[in-house]
Amino acid sequence: MDVVIVEDPSAVAAYAADRIAGVVRRRAGAVLGVATGSSPLGIYAALAELVRAGQLDTSRVSAFALDEYVGLDPAHPESYHSVIANMVTEPLGLDPERVHVPDGIASDLDAACADYERRIRAAGGVDLQLLGIGANGHIGFNEPTSSFASRTRIKTLAPQTRADNARFFATEAEVPVHCVTQGLGTILQARQLLLVAQGEQKAEAIARMIEGPLASVCPATALQLHRDATVVIDRAAASRLELADYYAYVQEQLPSGGAQ
Ligand code: GLP
Repeated sequence: MDVVIVEDPSAVAAYAADRIAGVVRRRAGAVLGVATGSSPLGIYAALAELVRAGQLDTSRVSAFALDEYVGLDPAHPESYHSVIANMVTEPLGLDPERVHVPDGIASDLDAACADYERRIRAAGGVDLQLLGIGANGHIGFNEPTSSFASRTRIKTLAPQTRADNARFFATEAEVPVHCVTQGLGTILQARQLLLVAQGEQKAEAIARMIEGPLASVCPATALQLHRDATVVIDRAAASRLELADYYAYVQEQLPSGGAQ
């Protein structure tokens, strides 16, 4: 795992946007895995700026979202269909036909989950999966004890996740109880993983993910199993890492061509 500690949230956004832009420049038809939540918003804004300036062509890029609430109308402003449309598809100039979000209102959710897996495979798999992390160590909506082999499926949101996400709704009671999320096994099949986090409130989860034992009770430790995973965090999110100086040293000593 590559651990990159930068000064502040704007440096996290700049680093991650540069990495994603590189993927798209190398492959015009790149397949991106996109995340919701607050953590990637600066990255999307930076990419949108490149597109506006004519420095990045996203017309052939495909995107797959990680997750969606179950039972929430896709037209609801906080459905991930809406969030991805407003924060990713429109500002980045993606073709809406190439942007996929799991179906949270299908009458047969299991069949819809299997279909989502098929769509990812049919697109040739994900080139780069962007991830945030929940305070409880979840990625996507893979809550603690999610199997490392899991595929897209229905999950019950942890009470802490519902409380964390209540800020997007009028009341906590309005936060759906269930979701559909790509599994940890699905996420691990992406060719590159890029996880970003900012702020002290993520420091504990970040320390567990990077330096804790591999354990599904902290689902983000799944990144330890991936051969090309990069974690980009600001100083506050890095504040509980015991080996922070070592990660900085590794970054300073990177041989040309990169290393992990
Ligand atoms: C959300 C999403 C995750 C996200 C995480 C952290 O509920 N399902 O994909 O990474 O929780 O969110 P935030 O970036 O707002 O802290």
